[in-house]
Amino acid sequence: MEKFSCKTTILSGAGAICALGEMKGTRLFLVTDPFFVKNGMAQRVLEAAKCSHTEIFDKVQPDPTVELAAEGTARLRDFEADLLVALGGGSAMDCAKAMAYFAKGNYKFVAIPTTSGSGSEVTDFAILTHDKVKHPLVDPALRPDTAILDSDLLMELPRSLIADSGFDVLCHALEAYVAKDAGAISDLYAREAFSSAYASLPASYAGRKEVRLKVHVAATMAGMAFTQAGLGLCHALSHSLGGMFHVPHGRLNAILMPSIVSLNANAAGKKYAELARAAGLGGSAETIAVRNLKNGLVRLRRELGLPETLAQAGVPPRNVWASAAQIVQAALADPCCAANPVPVDDFMVRRILEEVTGRV
Ligand SMILES: NC(=O)c1ccc[n+]([C@@H]2O[C@H](COP(=O)([O-])OP(=O)(O)OC[C@H]3O[C@@H](n4cnc5c(N)ncnc54)[C@H](O)[C@@H]3O)[C@@H](O)[C@H]2O)c1
Ligand SMILES: [Fe+2]
Repeated sequence: MEKFSCKTTILSGAGAICALGEMKGTRLFLVTDPFFVKNGMAQRVLEAAKCSHTEIFDKVQPDPTVELAAEGTARLRDFEADLLVALGGGSAMDCAKAMAYFAKGNYKFVAIPTTSGSGSEVTDFAILTHDKVKHPLVDPALRPDTAILDSDLLMELPRSLIADSGFDVLCHALEAYVAKDAGAISDLYAREAFSSAYASLPASYAGRKEVRLKVHVAATMAGMAFTQAGLGLCHALSHSLGGMFHVPHGRLNAILMPSIVSLNANAAGKKYAELARAAGLGGSAETIAVRNLKNGLVRLRRELGLPETLAQAGVPPRNVWASAAQIVQAALADPCCAANPVPVDDFMVRRILEEVTGRV
């Protein structure tokens, strides 16, 4: 049986944040990171919402901690908001989602992504870090009521962020498409998200702003797919390495994904081949199409200036091997691992680490 639900209303297009003014909020609590206060975007959101009382919690940093979410939860409870807005990338949205979950207030919750990546605006996940370990909180109650996909917020995206978060979208779509709970409906979103992001990322990276909304919508579609179907070993290991070494999440996915495709190819070859064809990478025989998919990811990674190994991402192999037992244990304990199309063990995770540290 496939179960597919989407509680979140999605509003997309240039200037979509104006919709905040129609939500009839009076007490707005905004969760964001300091960057958006500095560049004036937080102020634009406050003006669009037209609320008489406002408070900004702007302490979010990449990969938010449990402690930060607890501090924000207390502030949110005290403020008694009727409109909660998250403005930022996956980190700001995840922090706000955790705060909303624990504060249990009576508010409308709106997520406004400023990166085209995490899909957090429509997912059941919030990822918090504690003691160098990323912990995915998973509950349908975490899903925002409304997601606003405003392309005007994407015009100044730095190229490295387009690349990092773009590979997060590709990885969400790819893992969801072969995940254990994938079904016809999640497949539809995953396939479209993968082919659309794959086609548009080079142009977006090269500065063509008119394609940014396409990648943004693809990120949301990939989120809709994986929140139903699950993810896989790439995300489990990306969470584990990200908690330990604080490398951007999408960059880790880009490093790991080609190796994960090889690892899963026996079990998921047919579906990988479908994705390769949907993305225009061709291959009439299954093995050729899977090879094309892997090569296509490696090519795009290079085109977007992303590293191929952990060492190139600033993590020396000796640091990885010094913490290998902890990294493997955290990856195996991550809930994403259970959705991988082949069962994962200690040996397999070490084998991937060997590839991405350049040992093999
Ligand atoms: N909840 C989920 O479903 C889910 C899914 C995937 C990833 N995640 C989590 O999301 C986080 C990654 O999110 P992300 O990739 O969106 O990045 P992010 O939110 O961590 O932001 C990275 C940096 O980009 C900056 N930034 C964001 N938008 C910008 C813009 N428009 N212009 C300039 N700078 C901007 C931020 O200030 C920050 O310094 C990770 O912690 C990851 O674990 C969550
Ligand atoms: Fe992700």
